[in-house]
Amino acid sequence: MNKVILLDKRPVGIPALTDFKFTNEELPVLKVGEVLLKTVYVSVDPYLRGRMKDTKSYVPPFQLGQPVQSGIIAEIIDSLNDNFKKGEYVVGSLKWAEYQISNGKGLTKVDPDAASLSAYLGVLGMTGLTAYLGFRNLGLPKAGETVVVSGAAGAVGNVVGQIAKIMGCRVVGLAGSDEKIESLKSRFGYDEAINYKTSANLEDAVKNACPDGVDIYFDNVGGNVSDAVLANIKYKSRIVICGAISLYNDTEPAMAPRVEGRLVVNSATMSGFIISDFAEQFPEGIQQLTTWLKEGKITQCETVVDGFDSIPQAFIDLFDGKNEGKMIVKI
Ligand SMILES: NC(=O)c1ccc[n+]([C@@H]2O[C@H](COP(=O)([O-])OP(=O)(O)OC[C@H]3O[C@@H](n4cnc5c(N)ncnc54)[C@H](OP(=O)(O)O)[C@@H]3O)[C@@H](O)[C@H]2O)c1
Repeated sequence: MNKVILLDKRPVGIPALTDFKFTNEELPVLKVGEVLLKTVYVSVDPYLRGRMKDTKSYVPPFQLGQPVQSGIIAEIIDSLNDNFKKGEYVVGSLKWAEYQISNGKGLTKVDPDAASLSAYLGVLGMTGLTAYLGFRNLGLPKAGETVVVSGAAGAVGNVVGQIAKIMGCRVVGLAGSDEKIESLKSRFGYDEAINYKTSANLEDAVKNACPDGVDIYFDNVGGNVSDAVLANIKYKSRIVICGAISLYNDTEPAMAPRVEGRLVVNSATMSGFIISDFAEQFPEGIQQLTTWLKEGKITQCETVVDGFDSIPQAFIDLFDGKNEGKMIVKI
């Protein structure tokens, strides 16, 4: 029998364990052209929250009673597909299941000798590509500029800060605990870091950390944190909207200061993106990230939780800041 996790209810507010259901299913017999996959690492990501809503987006919503899906590293344990051999490892968007059968479409082989397997869900996967291509293509960084990153200790933010340092920028991060703030500065080279949960006046804290203003704001969280950063943008600044995790569980639209006037007077640009916008640049992006990782210019950071049954809780914990770097479940 094969354990699978289904979406049982559409979460209202912060997701709860009761929104998910564990079930057992029998695996069908493998057919010609198919592979049998054993799940090894599961990525849990904030964007999955959006797929749990029954609304139109850039990816279709999960259906109730169907398995949740995310980035997964799997081992091929049986193959009737000429393109894949037993013992190889692949990454793909797969079901939250211990085992599953695939026809091979959408699976990419990964080399366990070139990097740790989990890296292909983090710095050498969508996380790293989002950080690198989003920051480079829309942030248009120049050496000496001041970059502010929200969600700085999370998966994407952690990599953005490190890349900004490689590119010669001054980097300020916002994160939600003193331990994370310390780690941003001591392990990941951030010049300044602010605990947005304990700062009495966040706008002033950003101003103190960026006395000349903010050239690039790479935003992962939105909400109050962004209000404080946007009050400090500079002429010709670039605001890169990668995500807005602070808003994902809202049941009502959040009210916020109007930013249009600030964008006008600063001739600033605000751009959202979905990483698939840059699909053509993925091979080059992976090559660059692999080089930086090998050269030790980027430090891999991940929080690894153990066990298949922990997947839903690991996902929920993203909204409580329990992770530093990429949140991954090891099966
Ligand atoms: N545009 C794209 O293609 C793309 C691709 C990947 C990810 N994203 C987005 O990028 C963002 C980061 O994704 P990720 O995978 O790197 O996840 P992540 O940053 O590791 O997400 C979890 C972190 O978010 C922070 N957080 C949670 N609730 C918050 C709140 N209410 N206010 C402020 N911070 C909060 C927590 O850190 P603290 O301890 O600091 O609160 C937590 O550790 C997400 O918004 C995600 O949706 C976008």
